Amino acid sequence: MNKQYTKIDEWNIIEEGLHPDDNRIYESIMSIGNGHMGMRGNFEEDYSGDSLQGTYIAGVYYPDKTRVGWWKNGYPEYFAKVLNATNFIGIGVMIDDEVIDLAKTKVEDFKRILNMKHGYLLRTFTIVDSKGRKTKVEVKRFTSIKDLEVAAISYSITPLNHDASVTFTPYLDGDVSNEDSNYGEKFWLEVDKSVDKYEGHLTMKTKKLDFHVCTAMKYNVLQDNIELKGQIESIEKEKYVGNTITVTAKKGSTTTLYKYIAVTTNRDYPVNEIKNASIERVNYAYDKGFDKLFEEHSNAWEERWLESDIIIEGDPSAQQGIRFNIFQLNQTYTGHDPRLNIGPKGFTGEKYGGSTYWDTEAYCLNFYLSTREQNIARNLLIYRYNHLEKAKENARKLGMKGALYPMVTMNGEECHNEWEITFEEIHRNAAISYAIYNYVRYTDDKDYLAEYGFEVLVETSRYWADRVNYNPFKDKYMILGVTGPNEYENNVNNNWYTNTMAAWNLDYTLKVKEFLKNEYPDRYEELIDKLNLTDKETEKWQDIIDKMYYPYIESLDVFEQQDGYMDKEMKTVDDIPKDELPINQNWSWDRILRSCFIKQADVLQGLYFLNDRYDLETKKRNFDFYEPKTVHESSLSPCVYSIIAAEIGYEDKAYELYLRTARLDLDNYNNDTDDGLHITSMAGTWMSIVHGFGGMRIKNDTLSLSPFIPKAWARYSFKILFRGHLLKVITDKDQVRIVQEKGDTFTLKIYDEDYTLNENGEITVDIQHQQISLAVN
Ligand code: BGC
Repeated sequence: MNKQYTKIDEWNIIEEGLHPDDNRIYESIMSIGNGHMGMRGNFEEDYSGDSLQGTYIAGVYYPDKTRVGWWKNGYPEYFAKVLNATNFIGIGVMIDDEVIDLAKTKVEDFKRILNMKHGYLLRTFTIVDSKGRKTKVEVKRFTSIKDLEVAAISYSITPLNHDASVTFTPYLDGDVSNEDSNYGEKFWLEVDKSVDKYEGHLTMKTKKLDFHVCTAMKYNVLQDNIELKGQIESIEKEKYVGNTITVTAKKGSTTTLYKYIAVTTNRDYPVNEIKNASIERVNYAYDKGFDKLFEEHSNAWEERWLESDIIIEGDPSAQQGIRFNIFQLNQTYTGHDPRLNIGPKGFTGEKYGGSTYWDTEAYCLNFYLSTREQNIARNLLIYRYNHLEKAKENARKLGMKGALYPMVTMNGEECHNEWEITFEEIHRNAAISYAIYNYVRYTDDKDYLAEYGFEVLVETSRYWADRVNYNPFKDKYMILGVTGPNEYENNVNNNWYTNTMAAWNLDYTLKVKEFLKNEYPDRYEELIDKLNLTDKETEKWQDIIDKMYYPYIESLDVFEQQDGYMDKEMKTVDDIPKDELPINQNWSWDRILRSCFIKQADVLQGLYFLNDRYDLETKKRNFDFYEPKTVHESSLSPCVYSIIAAEIGYEDKAYELYLRTARLDLDNYNNDTDDGLHITSMAGTWMSIVHGFGGMRIKNDTLSLSPFIPKAWARYSFKILFRGHLLKVITDKDQVRIVQEKGDTFTLKIYDEDYTLNENGEITVDIQHQQISLAVN
């Protein structure tokens, strides 16, 4: 049983009592954001205990000079860092002569609550000072999902047994740093600031790349709803502006400071306009007032939940887990800006620096495809289209043709610097092509292929065609020296997954070529010309497809993860002593590499992506062989195994694997929540339910569902948006009910049979279980 950090509640994440030793874990869990900005669950008032202060602005990063032990040609010059930006939540508080510092001040009844239904962070507690004076505090903050540049805080105090003199210090502090800075450097320079009574602004710019961020604040103080004019002093320091305001708070009366914040950047405005824009936005927020801003924000959250909620009955812990995942995904990426993407930590921490990994295409896309309007997923694809030239440069830098997308990026440039990943984990190229296929298959937006998709497919194909080598003795094409998704093997030859996806990429490109030739002839001519694509080149691609080499274990009839995998000593995870897990924290790297243990879905990733190609028996054989050897030390792993387990009828196993993803961060399962949340694997949790338990697939333009229900649940439901049809799928112990909430009559498959669903109609079908009966070993 894992330690329980928070209380089980279906809509709230609740910390009861202060936990100074685990504060970073709670700060990560309590993060809020709105796609434009976000911050960890840091405190407004002073806190001298352990804390990772983090406020992050989407798309604002720093190219921190690479630091490696042994430089290798081809390494990127820098590692992009998600940048800790101006701390705008700060409100110093002094009650009478005592400064409130929750690491030192005596605190009673402390609660930190993340409300997921309406998207805000609430803290309540009572301060007891050295003279026994008690003051109740309630702090609420949100980053508006209606007005993305706006955040607001209400900070209320109520002296319970005394009259108090209270001094608030609302401030903006740009003197912040990243803990993961490679050379201990600070990344921000001050550009401009101003401070007056009740307001201030601070413009900072990054030392490199010239990102300008302007933060403006405005505040007022109300007592029992009457505005107070206190005694005010302005403070101006380097990279800092603030006010102190002193007011008298009578026993039993509530005094509230409302702090409004606006954050604008030169990503959205010319540099010389960001200050005015910020001031205009903060005035707008101030004039609207906290309650109205909050009402609009919480209504927007309610609407978002209408589209994307998953309801689980009979298991409140699972309910809380899935809502936490959906909430964090919606906080991280809103799809409003095609220049943005989904960082593995979102706005919750510094780790993983760069923003975009293959995680987006392989995992996150599915969530946005099914829960948001089509344009959102399309923007994720266009992001990569816009980086195509950089991906071509990246391939050239490594002496290759075509385009090699980066493993980690902010702006299209590679910024990962471990040779086995930067140079070798090339399967990411196929994930980007696969996302195009996945998107078009789901939405039927074939225009995308003509407009953007084909160019990406051709350039990634060119890379593959150059990266393979022909082995005349075997009359086969090989891909040598790669790292597959399983990062516990480096520099292997013929990773089955990589070879399979490379050939698939080439094949899909040829199919799209034929399609465009027939359906979009003018655009086709234009593209062939632009890309200079010749028949000779595509004939070569066909030859590679026909003669790709796939390692295979004949005696077991399973795909071999890579050449030589079977030379290893075959063991299972059960053979590893418990105190040696996770192996990545306990074993030397060479020992990990020599072992048969698998970090994350590799062959299984291929079975999931190219699901239609393989029959159930094949999936079962491969699952039975690989699952016992998989340590799931990437958060991206259990969900894929869970989906395949569900498909082959291993319902209990599917649920067991699901549990490993669902509360990963809430229960600090991998002992690393303090760094930030695993945002991208949260999409995997959603996939485990919808693709796994719900069995959702798209086959030949048709939506297909095969739901079952885990034993621990009484009923669950999810919603999907598919080609204009908004469907609610409700599964209980005996039946599955599908309700069309929006959309006209259409045909779908349930347990592989055709059903017609009318406008506003519904269908009820008895649950069917997968009939194949091989035991889980
Ligand atoms: C995984 C990668 C993933 C990265 C970021 C690593 O641990 O092995 O597949 O892209 O984390 O989430």
